[in-house]
Amino acid sequence: MSVGATLTKFLLEEQRKHPGSTGSFTALFSDLVVAAKIISREVNKAGLIDIIGAAGGKNIHGEEVQKLDELANSVIIKTMEHGGHLSGMASEEMESFVKIDGRYPKGGYLLVFDPLDGSSNIDVNVSIGTIFSVLRCQAGRELTEADFLRPGAQQAASGYILYGTSTMFVYTTGHGVHGFTLDPSVGEFLLSHEDIKIPEFGKIYSINEGNTKYWFPGTSKYIERLKSSDNDCCARYIGSLVSDFHRNLLKGGVFLYPGDKKSKNGKLRLLYEANPLAFIVEQAGGAASSGEGRILDIVPQGLHQKTPLIIGSRKNVDEAAAVWREV
Ligand code: AHG
Ligand code: MN
Ligand code: MN
Repeated sequence: MSVGATLTKFLLEEQRKHPGSTGSFTALFSDLVVAAKIISREVNKAGLIDIIGAAGGKNIHGEEVQKLDELANSVIIKTMEHGGHLSGMASEEMESFVKIDGRYPKGGYLLVFDPLDGSSNIDVNVSIGTIFSVLRCQAGRELTEADFLRPGAQQAASGYILYGTSTMFVYTTGHGVHGFTLDPSVGEFLLSHEDIKIPEFGKIYSINEGNTKYWFPGTSKYIERLKSSDNDCCARYIGSLVSDFHRNLLKGGVFLYPGDKKSKNGKLRLLYEANPLAFIVEQAGGAASSGEGRILDIVPQGLHQKTPLIIGSRKNVDEAAAVWREV
């Protein structure tokens, strides 16, 4: 499809390739797009702190200002709950999952999300994002936590919205990865990156080197190896997974958040962060590993489970995982 097609048009074209499709999925995405636009607008206001007030404090009107990640969480729930396409949602910001309110019809999908990823960057005008994953479920049956605890390989779709120099919507349904850029003048996401492929190998590595003293030997060895290789590697670390991931997806490279002596499973969450991005990266020709195996094969034990993560260009990921295993 030509560059500039709207996300809605693109989704409809994709839907037509699957005769028998009910359109429920396309409608679910349309709701998600609305949530993305609202959050994008709110994120853009984050710099106006002196005017609208800091989160946790009061704005110039004396009203309480909600933290942006909590606000993003409720925007998504409120925008998605009435569409009739979902049976439940789980979010990094909520202890437990929510069932769709009895006032609304229930559908055959579950939405799992990190409403704002990179929250430490909110107040300093640095790129952040929303990460999401869509799972199938049996509509009409009582929802339990187990419905959410499925390996990432079973995701029906996943993606992210990046609030960067422009706002982008990147997703996969298992048929390649497509990226759309929000044109604020028309208020639409327009196709800008069709069928994204990650380079097989990249020079960029992204890891929080402030944690060096906590690393296990495998991580230290891998990073030392990168620095002394002839490949002229290049360190880039924004501190928002979604932004670091997006850059590496387009340019090639690897992002690592290892388990370490402080936290044996690292910091990142399997359901809200690792799985959705692992689905994207595999569809783009890259790889995602926990060091022990493919991220998408992990059978989750809990909603907020963490996992070590190596994600990016296939050759880089394979090499990092091999070095972790060596020591
Ligand atoms: P969140 O803002 O959703 O809690 O996620 C923050 C995560 C992730 O975005 C980022 O890659 C990582 O935290 C950075 O962690 P460090 O500050 O430990 O490097
Ligand atoms: Mn996050
Ligand atoms: Mn978050």
